[in-house]
Parts: sequence; structure tokens; C-alpha cells
Amino acid sequence: MLFKSFAPFVALLSAVSAAPLQLTCQVAGDSDDTPVGAANNTEYSVVDCSTFLTGAFDTFSCHNTTAIPETDSCCFENWGVLMQTQFWDYNSSYLSIVTSADNDTLHQLEAEIQANVANNPTGQVFTIHGLWNDLCDGSYNQYCNPSLEINDDKDNITHVIVDVFGETELFNKMAKYWLNNEKSNVNNAGSIDLWEHEYNKHGTCMNTLLPKCFTGKYTKFENTVSFYKKVVELWENYSTYQFLQQFGITPTLLKQYKLSDVQTALAQANNGKQVYVGCLKGAIDEIWYYNNLKGNVLTGEYQAIDSLTPSTCGEYVWYLPK
Ligand SMILES: *[C@@H]1O[C@H](CO)[C@@H](O)[C@H](O)[C@H]1NC(C)=O
Ligand SMILES: *[C@@H]1O[C@H](CO)[C@@H](O)[C@H](O)[C@H]1NC(C)=O
Ligand SMILES: *[C@@H]1O[C@H](CO)[C@@H](O)[C@H](O)[C@H]1NC(C)=O
Ligand SMILES: *[C@@H]1O[C@H](CO)[C@@H](O)[C@H](O)[C@H]1NC(C)=O
Ligand SMILES: *[C@@H]1O[C@H](CO)[C@@H](O)[C@H](O)[C@H]1NC(C)=O
Ligand SMILES: *[C@@H]1O[C@H](CO)[C@@H](O)[C@H](O)[C@H]1NC(C)=O
Repeated sequence: MLFKSFAPFVALLSAVSAAPLQLTCQVAGDSDDTPVGAANNTEYSVVDCSTFLTGAFDTFSCHNTTAIPETDSCCFENWGVLMQTQFWDYNSSYLSIVTSADNDTLHQLEAEIQANVANNPTGQVFTIHGLWNDLCDGSYNQYCNPSLEINDDKDNITHVIVDVFGETELFNKMAKYWLNNEKSNVNNAGSIDLWEHEYNKHGTCMNTLLPKCFTGKYTKFENTVSFYKKVVELWENYSTYQFLQQFGITPTLLKQYKLSDVQTALAQANNGKQVYVGCLKGAIDEIWYYNNLKGNVLTGEYQAIDSLTPSTCGEYVWYLPK
């Protein structure tokens, strides 16, 4: 049931599972021969913002002192707090175990979990939630442009990503690391419904991602697939599991961590800026990295800022295995 709309694509996935996970190096300026609608591994085809960004508006989002002219709207995100959000979808059955199991049982289970962690495809990975653009005050808008929405039942998101845009490698990563779960807010649905939800709710609110910001002949959903590609690209830069591991913070049933230690470890990896740590029932389940942006959401420069949201965790947190 969880993977309702996902099941048909398992064959496709296993066929490409040997593909390397690194993003291939993308070469600019070779797109002349690319047929319409086949944006295969070319870089993002959006307006060049270099003139705008060396001119009077050489500024990060939320830092402008005057309004940006409408003609430059593809080079400046008006709602300029960009957040790369991630899930830690821990196994919730451990919540009761850590508080009720006797010491021997706990140590035995811990040993089993640690021995098997490498077999769990996301046992050492914070998975992708999305890329959100909040207003500069930390509030947000959603579902801003219904006419731009994608609908898997109608449009077949797999078909759009894989066949229309030739982004098989992107699809493969999304299928592996952009997973629906309990906290996704997407009822009773598979991962593709999460992708649909994330773009429709947040991507359609980004003014620099509008179709008019693309150069060349625009292919329907070029902005959607570009959004997905950017989300994955940003997420790859935030290896939360490793950031914590470097400070000896790893999932365990045996002890709680101090929230401030978790926050210090993450800030260290985030240019000294505070990262949002979210908890569900006292256990870490979400991480949000806040940025301001200079330029277009696809090609612009991201700059870490402090989280605008207080942690929902207590002073001590569980960091439970998956
Ligand atoms: C910054 O630019 C945005 C977009 O034009 C505008 O909404 C906002 O009011 C500007 N901020 C200031 C302080 O003028
Ligand atoms: C969660 O942990 C319990 C207890 O070890 C186990 O039985 C269950 O299979 C786990 N669930 C998942 C989804 O791994
Ligand atoms: C709990 O069990 C572990 C391993 O079985 C043991 O090393 C440890 O001393 C025990 N702790 C207590 C408080 O009994
Ligand atoms: C959606 O597209 C994929 C990839 O082309 C295809 O395998 C799948 O059968 C399509 N799904 C439906 C419901 O048509
Ligand atoms: C893009 O990928 C699709 C699907 O794999 C393929 O049909 C098309 O020829 C590719 N286009 C280019 C320019 O490589
Ligand atoms: C990812 O990190 C590298 C190395 O720090 C940096 O050059 C690149 O701009 C980053 N990419 C994004 C999308 O933030």
C-alpha cells in the first residue's frame, strides 16, 4: 500500500541500479543539437543573471533594500529563504523499546541493528524531503500556481522524468533517496506522490522557476524536472549522517544525545549557521538547512543562514536507528 504508485517501476529501477551515484560533470554550451524536450544532462537552461548580479542588485535574497524590477524577476527569489529539508525516518517501534526493554535485551537488539546497518539502503542516510522557499520572516505560502502543477495520474511523473527529459539517473536517485514516510504529510501514498506534493506545494511558489525564466523552446514540466534535479543536487551537499558521525553522533538505542551537541555538529558543517533539528516523540526525525539565494533558484549561489525555526526537540534527544 505504501508503495502504491511505485510498484510498476521496480523493474526499471533494478535495470539501472548499477549506475554510479555521482552526478556527472555537466558541460555548458553544447546544447545546440539537443532536440526539443530532451534536456538530457544539459545544465539548467535558465536566463543568464550575471549582468543583474554584478549591477545594482548584487545582493542575496532578503537583503535587498529596494524592490527588484519585474523585468529581473527570474534572477531574484522574492520569498528568499531556501530550505533543503531532510527526513530521518527512524523505526518508531524502538521508541517503546528504549524505555521499557531490560538491559540485556536492549544490548542484544543494538548489536543486531549495528551488524545489519549496511544492509539497510537508507540506514545511514537522511533522505530527501524537499526544497522550500519561505518568506523572509519565516512564514510561507503554498500551492501558489495551480496551472503549473503536475499530476501523476494524468501526467505520469516517471514518464516525464525518464522519457521526456531523459533523466534516468535523476529518477534512480529520487526513487532511492526521496521517500515518502509517516511525516511526509502525504496520506497513504508512495514516493511519487511525495514528489508531486513537494513540487506542487513549494516549487510552484518560486518565481525564478516559472516557465518564462527558461531559455530556448520551453517543454512542459521542464521547470518541474529542473526543480527535482536541483533538490537532489542540494541534498547531496548536505550529508547529515556524516556530519553527525564526525562528532561521534550515530543512531543508537543505548543513549540519548544532548540536542546542543547535535546542533553544534551540524552548524560546524554548515558554515557556522544553526540548522533546524526536528523531533517526533523526542527522537530526531527532520533536519532543515536554511539559505539565502543570490540569483536563480537553479543556477544561483546559496548562502547558509541560521534556522528561523526553533527546534521541536527537548534538551536530550533520541537518535534512533531505522
Ligand atoms: C526586495 O525585493 C522584493 C521583490 O521585488 C520586494 O518584494 C521587497 O519588498 C524588496 N525589499 C525591500 C526592503 O525593498
Ligand atoms: C522496526 O523494528 C522492529 C523491532 O526490531 C522490527 O520488528 C521491524 O521489522 C522494524 N521495522 C522496519 C520497517 O524495519
Ligand atoms: C548492560 O548490558 C551490557 C551488555 O550486556 C553490559 O556490558 C552492561 O554492563 C550492562 N549494564 C548494566 C547497568 O547492567
Ligand atoms: C509511466 O511511465 C513509465 C515510464 O515510461 C511506464 O513504465 C509506466 O508504465 C507508465 N505508467 C502508466 C500508468 O502508464
Ligand atoms: C534523451 O533521452 C531520451 C530517453 O532516453 C532519448 O530518447 C533521447 O534521444 C535523448 N536525447 C538526447 C539528446 O540524448
Ligand atoms: C556544493 O558544495 C560544493 C563544495 O562546497 C560547492 O562548490 C557547490 O556550489 C555546492 N552546490 C550547491 C548546489 O550548493
